[in-house]
Amino acid sequence: MKFFCELKRMVDDSYDIEIGHSLRPTLIDDLKNGLAGKANRYAVVTDSIVEKLYGRAVYEDLLENGFNADIFVIPEGEKSKTRAMKEFLEDSMLEKGYRRDCCIIAVGGGVVTDLAGFTAGTFGRGVPFVNYATTLLAAADASVGGKTAVDTPLATNLIGLFNQPKKVYLDIDTWKTLPSEQTASGLAETIKHGCLGDRELFEYLENNVEKIFEGDRAACEYIARHNCEVKYRVIMKDERESGLREILNLGHTVGRAIETVSDYRLLHGEAVAIGLCAQARLGETLGYISPDNRARVEELLKRARLPVAIPDYIDKNALVKKLYTDKKVRDGKLRFVFQKEIGEVMQFGENCFSKEIAEDEIAAVIRQI
Ligand code: GLY
Repeated sequence: MKFFCELKRMVDDSYDIEIGHSLRPTLIDDLKNGLAGKANRYAVVTDSIVEKLYGRAVYEDLLENGFNADIFVIPEGEKSKTRAMKEFLEDSMLEKGYRRDCCIIAVGGGVVTDLAGFTAGTFGRGVPFVNYATTLLAAADASVGGKTAVDTPLATNLIGLFNQPKKVYLDIDTWKTLPSEQTASGLAETIKHGCLGDRELFEYLENNVEKIFEGDRAACEYIARHNCEVKYRVIMKDERESGLREILNLGHTVGRAIETVSDYRLLHGEAVAIGLCAQARLGETLGYISPDNRARVEELLKRARLPVAIPDYIDKNALVKKLYTDKKVRDGKLRFVFQKEIGEVMQFGENCFSKEIAEDEIAAVIRQI
């Protein structure tokens, strides 16, 4: 005997990304206007640095406006993006009596938005969340697009969910308090977007990258908007990474591996910068990018205060082994995404944007840089 369970779903996960300056009042207005549906408790999740700068202010705004809220603080840094920290958040929320009628408000950078979004996806089998991004890295990549995850000792971002927020706030004023290495880290994802899908953005950065460090309003607004445009052109076609979304992994095969092998001494964007150089070097040998354009990529990364060489303390053999934890690995074979000159990516077949690369080919590049 069999019983057919018909469970077809039509889902509308559309949401707004608000790009602007000092957006806390907008968040409060949105919540008053029903952004989080029936939620009547609000868990502000932030980290130990952002708490003092913006997290506590969001929490106090909520209390002052009559919302029932609590604040949950995790230690700052990539090492907090773990199953253990997710468990800490879950247990802390349960202890305070949080149930399904709540909303999580992530205030911070990529670690906070990834962890809070994943927690929201499983807490009570799913509660709404919003991202209030306070770093360029989160604005350029982590807080938008609905990828949420934790890292494990073996690999980064392999345990997680696609879970779209109710809304994302990109508060450009918060970039003013970023240390310059964090600005640089966010610029790596921005340069990645220029390399893979927006030559105009790449050229704008060639002409204006220093202005981002100076906090120039127009330049910051320009990159915030272009990052969203590039990323969403891809995600609106392939939210679940069945093909095209792979291109957003440009530079991340070596980048993610080196970030882990460095034990997070390298910031995410610093690791991605080295990964972008590796794919460009390999792409040059394969004829996908000219020597001049490859040099432009490296020059722009340097001007964005990012590394273009593998630091001495990295064990290159361990790095090559770590490449196999990449999520693009198929049948035990490494796969890479490549930029095509500046502003496009290579396509290798119908809906196929990554190419199998032999270990010795990439090992040779890793020995060189
Ligand atoms: N960070 C890559 C993506 O969102 O797909």
